[in-house]
Amino acid sequence: MKLLFIGDIVGRPGRDAVCERVPEIIKEFSIDCCIANAENAAGGSGITPKVADHLLSSGVDLLTSGDHIWRNSEIFQLIDRTDKVIRPANFLTTVPGRGSTVIKLRSGVQIGVINLLGRVFMNPIENPFQAVMREIESIKKQTSVILVDVHAEATSEKIAMGWYLDGVVSAVVGTHTHVPTADNKVLPNGTAYITDVGMVGARYSVLGRDVHAVLKHFTTGLPARFTVAEGDIVLHSVIIDIDEHTGKARDIIRLER
Ligand SMILES: [Fe+2]
Ligand SMILES: [Fe+2]
Repeated sequence: MKLLFIGDIVGRPGRDAVCERVPEIIKEFSIDCCIANAENAAGGSGITPKVADHLLSSGVDLLTSGDHIWRNSEIFQLIDRTDKVIRPANFLTTVPGRGSTVIKLRSGVQIGVINLLGRVFMNPIENPFQAVMREIESIKKQTSVILVDVHAEATSEKIAMGWYLDGVVSAVVGTHTHVPTADNKVLPNGTAYITDVGMVGARYSVLGRDVHAVLKHFTTGLPARFTVAEGDIVLHSVIIDIDEHTGKARDIIRLER
């Protein structure tokens, strides 16, 4: 089976690009399942019910998230009544929503998806290496096809997670930095890996935000409103080929559109 994973979708320009290009990619590469990170989908920070519906009606099967999940308070109207939007599994167990889910495809194949937050250069949170094992244990009762979105800042932490889960899950994909890395590979025990998938946002920007606003902040040290950049929108993604019987990955390629 072929799984398309799309990096952080930034604001309306990112959403429009997903809605326009994803149906074409699904057709061209015979994609069975599409997952996207949507933590920046609403105005550049957070997710709203309307934004989630829009993305989920364009061919995306599931939305993952990250540190910006709570930025727009409308998320609280959504997160407990859907299994199509997940939040990091290593938040406190008392926060709303779920940290993993199992999607059932038309073919009958089930895919478990787990979302994690890193801890290096990020806010304090439960150890993701412990949290992930708890989630895997419960998902393995249903399926051996499992994807982990590790939303983290440090390359070392994400690479370590890839090695930790090699042979345990089908894929470990990194998100959060908005910059794609060129280290996509299948690890020795059959886990597809990439440190960061990238984003869907403006090519000429700072991580999808307006260059002038970010420069103003860095050069003056004063706060600035980081508006979402527009223009030429790049869509960063990976396509992962997985043997649905064993859960092992055969291949992972990067796709930029
Ligand atoms: Fe992001
Ligand atoms: Fe993030």
